[in-house]
Amino acid sequence: MKKYRGAFIKNDREIACLREANRMVANILDAIGDAIAPGVPTMRFEELARDMCAQYAVRPAFLGYCGYPFALCCSVNEQVVHGFPSTRLLEEGDIVSCDMGVIYEGFVGDAARTFAVGEVSEEAQKLMQVTEQSLYVGIEQARAGNDVYEIGAAVQAFVESHGFGVVRRFVGHGVGAKMHEKPEVPNFKPGIPGMPLQNGMVIAIEPMVTAGSYEVDILEDKWTAVTRDRKLAAHYEHSVAITPSGPQILSISDRGLRRPEV
Ligand code: MF3
Ligand code: CO
Repeated sequence: MKKYRGAFIKNDREIACLREANRMVANILDAIGDAIAPGVPTMRFEELARDMCAQYAVRPAFLGYCGYPFALCCSVNEQVVHGFPSTRLLEEGDIVSCDMGVIYEGFVGDAARTFAVGEVSEEAQKLMQVTEQSLYVGIEQARAGNDVYEIGAAVQAFVESHGFGVVRRFVGHGVGAKMHEKPEVPNFKPGIPGMPLQNGMVIAIEPMVTAGSYEVDILEDKWTAVTRDRKLAAHYEHSVAITPSGPQILSISDRGLRRPEV
């Protein structure tokens, strides 16, 4: 595979595989969204995700990755990312961020969404909306010739203009045959230049947004990231190809994309 400054440049066939992997991920997220309800244990979504992987004859990408013990990440309320599916029952008013990955024909699909459980607070609604919008604000910058750090600069400016915070501890990433490839895709503006994006790069853009402080702690389980102030967090992620006709979102389900107005 061709490389540019350590980042892989994908050909059309490779992008087609990544699109298919991400379609499966998006379909799994749709199914999880349909199953979200008060009283449901988050482990139900793990089962759903594994069942769909079996049907698609693909491997979950997260299971066993650096020792991660599940196929799915389910992060509830103050949990930011990498929460474990569990017997915990969802309650009306919770928000739950679900992050899923699969490996299809050797290529990784990676996407995430935050779901509301029944009626949620106005603040939770606003947080989810701003986080999802910020993902599209970032995607808009995913164009050949742009510095990869323009993405985070745009995400951060948008999020902070709404009074929320962007997590610094975790970042988006190039994605392809490996889940984490170059370049890193921060959701904030680093003070230094990054690399110019090239056609054929595929990146996962994944803003993690907090209602209060953007600082996170990692729980005893060594994985679950929570906001230090225990306020709410939301997380949306798309895998995006950089193409001559602009950013192409790959993580689109069979239901299609419902892009939020920004
Ligand atoms: N979307 C996350 C990421 O890009 C998923 C990784 S969870 C892990 O890093 F368990 F696999 F690490
Ligand atoms: Co990711």
